[in-house]
Amino acid sequence: MQKLFFEKLAVQGTPALYLMIGIPASGKSTVAREIAHHFGIGIISRDEIRKELSGNERNHDREAAVTLSVRERIRAYLAAGRSVILDTTSAKARDRREMTELCRMERGISIGIWVKAPLSVCLERNAARQEPVPQYVIFRHLRFLRSAPPCPADGFTKIIQVDGTESRTDT
Ligand SMILES: Nc1ncnc2c1ncn2[C@@H]1O[C@H](COP(=O)(O)OP(=O)(O)OP(=O)(O)O)[C@@H](O)[C@H]1O
Ligand SMILES: [Mg+2]
Repeated sequence: MQKLFFEKLAVQGTPALYLMIGIPASGKSTVAREIAHHFGIGIISRDEIRKELSGNERNHDREAAVTLSVRERIRAYLAAGRSVILDTTSAKARDRREMTELCRMERGISIGIWVKAPLSVCLERNAARQEPVPQYVIFRHLRFLRSAPPCPADGFTKIIQVDGTESRTDT
């Protein structure tokens, strides 16, 4: 199963932007780490950039600078012919389209990785975390994804759905 999953993600000759999609606590970062490990590629995460900019990954004071940095990093990876994973929620169609457009400008291909887990599981996982996000944030992202689910019109070459509750120990 894992092998098949990675085969679906493999690209040849063209760098790829793997765009993680899913509500908070669905398991995006967990899946992103697996993909990064398997292919030996990097992960760009807004939390990491926030930490670099302010020393605190929860500090949302400089979101425009974070967005700029995300875009610069994606460009740099793709221009160097390297694939990369963007670990964001990407619940809004507009955000997904901006990323696939950027990728196209750098002659890369975009692959959406939609991590799905039942709402009840996400709420439970979130509540168990050290710093849970407010529940309304989870509901808001779910609304965005339900009203405009990821689709080829977002600019993806491929969209792969992943079960965010699947055992992740057999990689
Ligand atoms: N397949 C899984 N089985 C069991 N627990 C999991 C699984 N995937 C993730 N988890 C657990 O669920 C929690 C959330 O996972 P993760 O951080 O990967 O989610 P996320 O989608 O990246 O969340 P966020 O949007 O807040 O960054 C973590 O505690 C993680 O260990
Ligand atoms: Mg995460």
